[in-house]
Amino acid sequence: MNVLQIQNLHVAVEGKEIIKGVDFELDQGKTAVMFGPNGSGKSTLLGAIAGLPGYEITRGSIWYKGRDLRSLSIDERARLGIGMSFQYPPAIKGVRLSTLLNVLSQDAQTMLTNAEDLNMSEYLDRDINVGFSGGERKRSEILQLMIQEPDLMLLDEPESGVDIENISIIAAALKTILEKDKPIKKRMRSAIIITHTGYILDYINADIAYVIMDGHLLGCGTPGEIFEEIRAHGYKQCCECFAEKYQNIQTGDI
Ligand SMILES: Nc1ncnc2c1ncn2[C@@H]1O[C@H](COP(=O)(O)OP(=O)(O)OP(=O)(O)O)[C@@H](O)[C@H]1O
Ligand SMILES: [Mg+2]
Repeated sequence: MNVLQIQNLHVAVEGKEIIKGVDFELDQGKTAVMFGPNGSGKSTLLGAIAGLPGYEITRGSIWYKGRDLRSLSIDERARLGIGMSFQYPPAIKGVRLSTLLNVLSQDAQTMLTNAEDLNMSEYLDRDINVGFSGGERKRSEILQLMIQEPDLMLLDEPESGVDIENISIIAAALKTILEKDKPIKKRMRSAIIITHTGYILDYINADIAYVIMDGHLLGCGTPGEIFEEIRAHGYKQCCECFAEKYQNIQTGDI
């Protein structure tokens, strides 16, 4: 079953078109990865799905579990089961992390257990992200997702700036949320993961990978294949390779 369907999506930020006609589908239980150079529109795409302010959908549509997201606010989308971890999580002075977590779930024991799993117990009484190191902010983001239990997770560089040991802690938490221990047909949750380093893929099996260049979703393949291609030849050649493939498809060569 399709959990997310994006058709001919165009997104503008402050009047500038960033996403330029993206088509994308994600099935229930599947994890997709997105690669792309800096400034190519990855965070913008996730922001438009989550409904962050400032991202204007100028054309096209986004459907989540059969509902058109365009008319829904960010909190309505969150209530429907869309959760996001930010590339640059903001600090919120005056609001304790535990206060936010209590809003996400009333189950105090779950909060304590999850905080322990993510080495975050001692941060619960601190203001959200205030004075947190880069890696601590990322763990705090994943803790919030663990407690929110969204059906669609949008993970914007969950491992960037995180040390190797903590990447494995974050990955273990994500694997739990994504029910990776269950057979694929029994998994209810889906995710889109943006990564530059690919480290997270050493721990979490992703099903499919995409490359975004200049606001276009270029093509897809297996995560390992595409990552190796980018690492060996860079984005430019990857882009040319996709262009060639599409041309061949159009001319019927393959
Ligand atoms: N308010 C804004 N005004 C003008 N341009 C903007 C604005 N916000 C974002 N952009 C531009 O949109 C483009 C895409 O940004 P986005 O954050 O989606 O890139 P990204 O693919 O996530 O990059 P990175 O890998 O560096 O995180 C960038 O060129 C950025 O400068
Ligand atoms: Mg980004």
